Amino acid sequence: MTKKILIGVLAVFIILQFFQIDKSNPEYDASQDLITIHNPPAEVAGILKSACYDCHSYETAYPWYTNVQPLAWWIKDHIDEGRDEMNFSEWGTYSPRRADHKLEESVELVEEGEMPLESYTLAHGEAKLSEAQKKILTDWFKTQREVIYPDSLRSADS
Ligand code: HEC
Repeated sequence: MTKKILIGVLAVFIILQFFQIDKSNPEYDASQDLITIHNPPAEVAGILKSACYDCHSYETAYPWYTNVQPLAWWIKDHIDEGRDEMNFSEWGTYSPRRADHKLEESVELVEEGEMPLESYTLAHGEAKLSEAQKKILTDWFKTQREVIYPDSLRSADS
């Protein structure tokens, strides 16, 4: 009996493997990319790439375990949702107001330790940000908010 159940579970697991996620990165216009547009110092660019870009850009790297279902479906959901919320590959298409708001949220979420997602840093040790790295990243976000949406624009908008 137990043997039959085990064989059943194994069969289901094997069948699931036929439903691979789409790992192709959509084409995008590199001139609209956050790093291209804002040209951060190398250290900031490095943190963005290793801690945010897998979910918030079209430059996602898919590790070997994204071949394993149902784990990969769950990861793909994070990527789709992350891109939906904020996509650094489409940064140039955001209005100043929207871009400013996204950076404001980014500062908050990084300071609170909510981004990058904890499930992500478990597998990506280099994405686990030290207090110093958090400060470097959030300080940069703050300076870019001034560039994107200076007070003059802000008051003209409201
Ligand atoms: C493993 C994927 C993943 C990584 C890595 C990741 N995020 Fe996210 N992010 C998400 C998902 C999923 C959401 C939407 C659900 C939520 O808010 O929890 C989100 C939401 C956000 C939002 C909210 C946008 C809005 O308008 O409400 C911001 C801002 C954000 N992330 C910033 C970052 C920053 C900055 C980094 C890097 C330091 C980062 N994220 C790394 C998956 C990720």
